[in-house]
Amino acid sequence: MSGPAGAAARIAVVGSCNMDIVAFAPHLPAPGETVTGQRLLQVPGGKGANQAVAAARAGGDVVMIGAVGDDAFGGLVRASLQEAGVNVSGLRVGPQPTGTAHITVDSAGSNTIVVIPGANAAVVDLTDADRDAIGNSDVLLLQLELPQAVVTAAAAVAHRAGTTVLLTPAPVRPLPAELLALIDLLVPNEHEASQLTGRADAQDALDSLLAQVPAVVVTLGAAGCSYRRRAGAPIRVGAPAVPVVDTTAAGDTFTGALAVALAEGKTVPGALRWATSAAGLSVQHEGAATSMPRREQIDAFAQGLESAVGAGR
Ligand code: RIB
Repeated sequence: MSGPAGAAARIAVVGSCNMDIVAFAPHLPAPGETVTGQRLLQVPGGKGANQAVAAARAGGDVVMIGAVGDDAFGGLVRASLQEAGVNVSGLRVGPQPTGTAHITVDSAGSNTIVVIPGANAAVVDLTDADRDAIGNSDVLLLQLELPQAVVTAAAAVAHRAGTTVLLTPAPVRPLPAELLALIDLLVPNEHEASQLTGRADAQDALDSLLAQVPAVVVTLGAAGCSYRRRAGAPIRVGAPAVPVVDTTAAGDTFTGALAVALAEGKTVPGALRWATSAAGLSVQHEGAATSMPRREQIDAFAQGLESAVGAGR
């Protein structure tokens, strides 16, 4: 999976770009309830753009393929990607407005999200340049906020080229066999894993998903993550205990960092620990792209955790 020695991990992302409109409230509203919130925040998000920013800040050489609208939100999302060092040559400007995500965050940092796809829905095919970018990458990151046909087309290009395909199955929906056959590593959270399999227990869900894809990592929030390869032993990584402000995009931060770590040739346990450290840093800050750590911050935090574990032995 890794490119030339010493070169940055090459990551392609085919995914969504949104503006996140975030209401911070004491608790998430129940159906029919009106809650008075404390603050409103507007920050760049979208699972695709988030993973691109996370991977770039983690040290990857990242290209983003997606779409924004010809509007102020689109300009802000583009600027956020560029500021992180993401190559935006694959970012189309569609006639529809930029996608938006309407997020409520409660006092424990948990959230609910409603996404209006906007321009994301217009990404229906790949250009020759997109195919080249995917084929020249070590890892392709996919999620399910673009039309399924283009997600499958991108996975097929990667599969043919030997580019490793990671899929975040969110927003969760049944995955067709045609797409599953192209996935190297599925990265659901525990809720998505349960919804995909009908198994309430995350470990049972993970084992069941292994019948469909060769490797799975289930993110478990404050409990870390659980990984397994077909015919391999399970690997469990705990999460650091940190003050949680906002969990939005913690999974995207984990996935972006994981892609970089795997492409750089870190061992799977090492890559999982590093990605978990990145997510542990992101939950301590508000917003999506605004919360993602830089490589040196991840290194320092991961190192501190290793030392603490070593001192506790
Ligand atoms: O994964 C978090 C993201 O989901 C948010 O940034 C929001 O835009 C939605 O796509």
